[in-house]
Amino acid sequence: MAHNETIRREFAKQAASFGDRGLTLSSHEHLTWMVGILPLASDFRVLDVATGTGHLSRAIAPHVRQVVAVDVTPEMLDKAKEEAVRSDLDNILFEEADAAALPYPDASFDMVVSRLAIHHFEKPGLQLGEMVRVCKPDHTVAIIDLLSPADKSMIESYNRLERLRDVSHTLALTEGQLVDAMASSGLSVQSVDKREIAVDFERWVEMTGTNFQTRDRIKAELQAELRGGAKTGMRPYMQEGTLKFLQTWCVAIGTRSSAKTAGKQRL
Ligand SMILES: C[S@@+](CC[C@H](N)C(=O)[O-])C[C@H]1O[C@@H](n2cnc3c(N)ncnc32)[C@H](O)[C@@H]1O
Repeated sequence: MAHNETIRREFAKQAASFGDRGLTLSSHEHLTWMVGILPLASDFRVLDVATGTGHLSRAIAPHVRQVVAVDVTPEMLDKAKEEAVRSDLDNILFEEADAAALPYPDASFDMVVSRLAIHHFEKPGLQLGEMVRVCKPDHTVAIIDLLSPADKSMIESYNRLERLRDVSHTLALTEGQLVDAMASSGLSVQSVDKREIAVDFERWVEMTGTNFQTRDRIKAELQAELRGGAKTGMRPYMQEGTLKFLQTWCVAIGTRSSAKTAGKQRL
């Protein structure tokens, strides 16, 4: 799949800095919030889909029997393995796999989680269907992702700026679209918890290695908005001379409805 090549190329570049301290990605506070919502149990075997460098896997591992952490980018998995060793965690199994074709039998996990990956999928119904298929009936599939603004006039500009920064970004869904996609994949959505996350613009574009011309182009749009220009959906603001903006992150909890229907429907 051509998009997976784009994913591997972009995340091979990002792997080195993805685990850096001080990023929203590695924030202990945000991870504690997310893990606190997940209905984990000590005997659970949990699948983390598109684990990246394993931030969420490492936060979950102390609470469960095993985490199986998959990703399509080998460089991200290499970093994840290093980090797990450094954290002294020996119950995370890392495997290279495509979320669109998970190499596991039906109903083989007690919980399936995925963080910040849906907005990299071209047809998220496909990967959601796979997550539902491998989850045991009546168990949880938890989707953590950034949300598009609900205002239709900003969905296009918000995702356009995200794609300018990182070409592997496809589409951040609105809350309504995410809930619909989960429901269409055979999940009964139990809750959607949201948080506003402050992002430092320079660190954001540095992490993806966005070229300098493009950084300036995105920055110009955010600065124009600050001066009263067109709303981009990024909600930029200045803090002590630093350009920042807000993302909405959500933790959406779905329960696999039944063994028969789950995984059959697609977005
Ligand atoms: C933004 S990172 C998020 C990583 C991690 N879940 C986290 O929250 O820190 C997105 C990850 O999704 C992975 N990815 C994208 N498409 C994938 C696919 N089809 N199958 C498996 N992994 C995929 C990328 O390789 C990358 O590591």
